[in-house]
Amino acid sequence: MEHKEFNYRNLEDLKKECERLGVRLNFSTNMKLFERKVNINGLVTPNSIAFHPMEGCDGTKEGSPAELTMRRYQRFAKGGPGLIWVEAVAVVREGRANPKQLWIHKENIEEFKKLHKTIISSAQEEFGQNFRPVTIVQLTHSGRFSKPNNDFEPIIAHQDPYINARYKNENIAHIITDEELEQLEDQFVEAALLVKEAGFDGVDIKACHRYLSSELLSAFDRQGKYGGSFEGRTRFIINTIDKVKKAVGEDFIIASRMNIYDGIQYPYGWGVDKDNPLIADFTEPKKLISMLYDRGVRLLNLTMGTPYYNPHVNRPYDKGGYVPPEHPLEGISRLMNGIGTMQKEFSNMVIVGTGFSYLREFSANLGAGVLENSQATLIGYGRAAFAYPDLVKDILIKGQMDRRKCCITCGKCSEIMRVNGTTGCVIKDAKIYGPIYREYIG
Ligand SMILES: Cc1cc2nc3c(=O)[nH]c(=O)nc-3n(C[C@H](O)[C@H](O)[C@H](O)COP(=O)(O)O)c2cc1C
Repeated sequence: MEHKEFNYRNLEDLKKECERLGVRLNFSTNMKLFERKVNINGLVTPNSIAFHPMEGCDGTKEGSPAELTMRRYQRFAKGGPGLIWVEAVAVVREGRANPKQLWIHKENIEEFKKLHKTIISSAQEEFGQNFRPVTIVQLTHSGRFSKPNNDFEPIIAHQDPYINARYKNENIAHIITDEELEQLEDQFVEAALLVKEAGFDGVDIKACHRYLSSELLSAFDRQGKYGGSFEGRTRFIINTIDKVKKAVGEDFIIASRMNIYDGIQYPYGWGVDKDNPLIADFTEPKKLISMLYDRGVRLLNLTMGTPYYNPHVNRPYDKGGYVPPEHPLEGISRLMNGIGTMQKEFSNMVIVGTGFSYLREFSANLGAGVLENSQATLIGYGRAAFAYPDLVKDILIKGQMDRRKCCITCGKCSEIMRVNGTTGCVIKDAKIYGPIYREYIG
């Protein structure tokens, strides 16, 4: 179905459009569902809303959180989500996605301690001493999308003709060797230990959006022990999780933000039907999740696509770099139904759902519908967290979101990020990010 911009006056309008499209989404008006506390490896979230990892590209040259980073997390924490999933933090300098991406190392551990303290104290100032959001840090190596200086310096799992065709930088790409991958597993461990020392509750071994460990999952044509078979392609994430677990001990959450569908043609895409990349095949993602479950992983944040190749799959939008080949409600349904399938299969896993921001105030109805139908355990917000961090308070206290404060999925936050600028919501947090947008984009 054709792309259409958001234009729904009320929930009934939206439901009618779903019917017209033949899209199945669950909606509910029971906002009490968001009050449900969630137990993750013994830690309890104060409610069922999570803020997703959202990079602000506002760290220092050395990777430390800077003034705008602290401001973002203060705003997030004062909004009141039960779980704050801190953005992509690089484990090595060469794996940074931009020169201002956060990067954790021994020299800046004190700065990360301050970030953690800021999150907890901001939440407690707002909601009292007993309120404590669960905090997870996403650890990453950006792989083919690494830009530690200003341009791409790709480090890849294998050549991928689909993404190569978009970026045309395969000649400068370094195919990471098995020895380097083994070393990188240990670098994830070092970073995880630092995250623990900084006071956070857990780490995410990131395996999404076609960054390095996500790309490895579909490295069907890679030779050697980190490619080819299912066992080879999942070796990096499994080894890393095993090593991290051994190092950090039992009282620390190990999670993963993981793609369950890449939307890229086989044999270059993960979770796709061999004949048709538009159709998901969850056989391998399910097998991997089952292996993670056996290792004690109880928290997953599931997602799809990549912002560099098929952003409409990754984050349904009104405006972006191109007009998407589908209606945004179809994209939302792909995310909800795919994630719901996993939650049904792994009912003891805490799964964070993705893809709500596009629906503005009705995202609360979709979130409640998802909770009511056990399609996820936590409702995760990405772009909406930039625009409207107080959405949690509004849902829990007022029972509804305010349309005037909602993210309008205009894509401006991504536009700034792509040109290495510091990002946030240009429209609803305009005083800070309006001038930045004008400086970088015009
Ligand atoms: C500016 C920007 C930064 C992002 N940073 C991250 C990140 O650091 N890690 C990650 O896993 N996803 C990141 N994402 C993806 C979001 O977490 C989320 O999956 C996506 O926006 C869809 O959710 P939404 O519809 O609620 O926005 C980012 C997205 C945007 C637009």
